[in-house]
Amino acid sequence: IEVRQVTLRIYRGDNDQGEMKEYTVPVQSGMVVLDAVHQVQAMHAPDLAVRWNCKAGKCGSCGGEVNGKPKLMCMDRLDNYPDGEPIEVRPMKSFPVIKDLACDVTWNYEVNKKIPAYKPRPDGKRQFSQQEADRVQEFRKCIECFLCQNVCHVLREHNKHDKFGGPRFLVRAAALEMHPLDVEDRSKLIKDELGIGYCNITKCCTEVCPESITITDNAIIPLKERVVDRYYDPIQMLLRVISPK
Ligand code: SF4
Ligand code: F3S
Ligand code: FES
Repeated sequence: IEVRQVTLRIYRGDNDQGEMKEYTVPVQSGMVVLDAVHQVQAMHAPDLAVRWNCKAGKCGSCGGEVNGKPKLMCMDRLDNYPDGEPIEVRPMKSFPVIKDLACDVTWNYEVNKKIPAYKPRPDGKRQFSQQEADRVQEFRKCIECFLCQNVCHVLREHNKHDKFGGPRFLVRAAALEMHPLDVEDRSKLIKDELGIGYCNITKCCTEVCPESITITDNAIIPLKERVVDRYYDPIQMLLRVISPK
């Protein structure tokens, strides 16, 4: 097995202050960025904070920014980076840093709490087509890594955390809204509290999703259409006046 040296430049600090520190560690081919970070912990910095759990791309804990790109560190092979150049590892930018590579993602759970749960049809109907099932199944693949939240410019550059729920929660809202047996109407929440109008369809969220969920085309755009139909379509508006839901 070939062993080579890799230099990592890792953010060390908290939300108020910190610096990039360099560490060189031995790695083997096939290793991922998280392995190298663990080597740094083992050999140089036992107090380095990093969150991880499954090491299989399924728990969503190890999100970070590697050479400026949002990544699951446990799925990011060191072989993908040029030999001899330091690899920069930072925490996700859109959330407060607790320590080193660990962020405080509490805000996401607060947004989640606003979304009303699944409400089944009162008539007890239980059948739906495979096509209807497949449509929502895609959204259920989400591992809550929050890389889409991290990369969306509305949160990342404009800090609209109080006005925009972010792509992850538009995916969750879509999973419920498009569920064939759900009868809850979340369009007001999607418009006002999740602030879907702030999304200008840049699709960066879709590009980074490790579960390859087609966030923008399959979740956000259909939800935008629903909001438009419900709030801005004159016929729908008239129908609501005649027979409010
Ligand atoms: Fe992560 Fe994709 Fe879920 Fe966003 S939608 S939290 S990128 S798995
Ligand atoms: Fe943001 Fe995705 Fe929309 S990156 S602007 S939520 S398409
Ligand atoms: Fe679970 Fe990376 S450690 S997704």
